[in-house]
Amino acid sequence: MTTILDGKTCADKILDNIKEQVSKLDTTPGLAVILVGNNPASSIYVKNKEKKAQYAGFNSIIHKLPKNTTKESLLNLIEKLNKDCNIDGILLQLPLPKHLNTYDFLDKIDPKKDVDGFHPINAGKLLLNEKPYAIPCTPKGIIRLLKTHNIQIEGKNAVIIGRSNIVGKPLSMLLLNENATVTIAHSKTKNLPEITKKADILISATGTENMVTAEMVKKNATIIDVGIIRKDDGKLRGDVDFDAIKDVASNITPVPGGIGPMTIAMLMENTLELHLLKTRTKE
Ligand code: GUN
Repeated sequence: MTTILDGKTCADKILDNIKEQVSKLDTTPGLAVILVGNNPASSIYVKNKEKKAQYAGFNSIIHKLPKNTTKESLLNLIEKLNKDCNIDGILLQLPLPKHLNTYDFLDKIDPKKDVDGFHPINAGKLLLNEKPYAIPCTPKGIIRLLKTHNIQIEGKNAVIIGRSNIVGKPLSMLLLNENATVTIAHSKTKNLPEITKKADILISATGTENMVTAEMVKKNATIIDVGIIRKDDGKLRGDVDFDAIKDVASNITPVPGGIGPMTIAMLMENTLELHLLKTRTKE
């Protein structure tokens, strides 16, 4: 029988737990999200993050900047937020408009407020298996969902399709730190089905519909779908041909209701952790 890995239920439990912890604090965690331009998908993600931050009891601030924002004004805002003692987490929503270079900004965020874990110091700590201030939310959410369902990672063949800095690369480090044998496949990989067929845990993070078909999946594998594709009818699809694969796999995440909610829950967890780090180091 196939288990549907219900990320929504798991994420709701995590959020309720965060909300309860926050209600017992004398202080309020603060999350600042910066959205540059009007990418429709980013606007939806940011709205969802704001909703959950408010639910958790955080101080949630969205900074919406116009598409033609200059490098200087974005750097000024980051600097201001770095200094703001009411803000524990700073998230710069990606992608940025083309005239702005992502790493000109990500490495200016204080690593102790880098709620995405994208700063080179946090990425380096993850690489070295030293505790980063924050771990990237989507990879962290994937590991959490696997562990919540008691899916063994150690010694398993994990194949990731996609080598992004947001998902594929940090996830490869987390899986390696959990003692999986990790393969990263990408757009130039040859004989992809041959590789994916060996996966005990297969993670697809490409944003391409039907990237993973039933013929590419080993029987009883665990399938994690990170893709979020919005169709013309407004419905969301993932990378994985869910209907064809659900009877081959032993565990599979749905889209929506799988990794998406887990990502947001991990963002809230990271914000709370950074807040507690700040307040406890002050004591
Ligand atoms: N865009 C898509 N996913 C993410 C994410 O996890 N963090 C940020 N900052 N931008 C994103």
